[in-house]
Amino acid sequence: MKTNQWLGILAAALSGVLLAGCQSTPSPTPAKGQISHRPFGRTPDGTAVDLFTLRNANGVEAGICNYGGLVIFLKVPDRHGRLGDVTLGYDKLEDYLKDSPYFGALIGRYGNRIAKGKFTLNGQEYTLAVNNGPNALHGGLKGFDKVVWQPTIRATREGPELELNYVSRDGEEGYPGTLRVTTIYSLTPDNALKIQYRATTDKDTVVNLTHHSYFNLAGQGDILNHQVMLPADTFTPVDRTLIPTGELRPVAGTPFDFRTPTAIGARIGQDDEQLKFGGGYDHNWVINKPLGQLGLMARVYDPASGRVMEVLSTEPGLQFYSGNFLDGKNIGKGGWAYKFRNGFCMEPQHYPNSPNQPNFPSVVLKPGQVYHNTILYRFSVQK
Ligand code: GLA
Repeated sequence: MKTNQWLGILAAALSGVLLAGCQSTPSPTPAKGQISHRPFGRTPDGTAVDLFTLRNANGVEAGICNYGGLVIFLKVPDRHGRLGDVTLGYDKLEDYLKDSPYFGALIGRYGNRIAKGKFTLNGQEYTLAVNNGPNALHGGLKGFDKVVWQPTIRATREGPELELNYVSRDGEEGYPGTLRVTTIYSLTPDNALKIQYRATTDKDTVVNLTHHSYFNLAGQGDILNHQVMLPADTFTPVDRTLIPTGELRPVAGTPFDFRTPTAIGARIGQDDEQLKFGGGYDHNWVINKPLGQLGLMARVYDPASGRVMEVLSTEPGLQFYSGNFLDGKNIGKGGWAYKFRNGFCMEPQHYPNSPNQPNFPSVVLKPGQVYHNTILYRFSVQK
């Protein structure tokens, strides 16, 4: 399946519809949907970045910036067919540059935490910046969410795509190996934002790429009434710094059992040590599916708007974060002060701290291997 996808992309490129470097050459074969772009500002070093708007044939729209691969907006219909933005974030680049808790971000080289910012690979210890209590979080001080990616827009038979490329040099943020990363964003005909990651290295390294949009399917208020279903029999409990202990703990009989749809708020206030450590949900669920296979990771339903979001991915774990660090200080789109639990994240990924946990699926990438990860956020409505 993945090979076919890449062949499709290659075929599109060879058939001459590749629009390199964002030149606005018209496509010879009119694609379903559209992509446009406009200037979105400059980074502190003066680099100009763009906001790309993808639109599918149903009118669903995604706005993506080539700074940090940020998803700036995602407009999907509610049960009455009204389009609404279901992501948190800002209207302006300068706000993202100032202070953002990873709103809409492309996360890498290693998403989530690495204990004490240290790991050993092939007998050599690597030291990373410690940027979250005693641990390293989301790729370091200048992770993939804070770099400028090289954009290319392209028409395919399914619709337009935005490809972002970035070369992370050997030693960047403390990680070994030059990592060449390609991320492709597209909107599918069935209303999914599809994100495909691909990476290669010239030295053994660790890779864990993910996506960090904060969602609110109602487009306002807190997310406690959203009903979540996670097909996971176990999760990875954490210590008080949110590093997994290494245990895969059954969810049965705990507030972590989302095997049947349950409101986020139903048990979040329970007297439970794991909920206390996370300040709510901020944990990795071990999804019931074979490693590497694209499958359902989560289904979220908002009774107020009727919107449903399904998360699919090839990754083995899902970090479900209930926006516990939001505290009203980030004033977002339309002047909305993002308060405690006004948004949630669903981050398909390998388990946190995998480089230090030999019993977790490996995150090591070697020269000659190709890292792949596909994530879909698919939207529909329930009446
Ligand atoms: C991830 C982490 C959370 C938090 C957010 C960003 O979801 O698991 O603990 O750090 O990113 O605020």
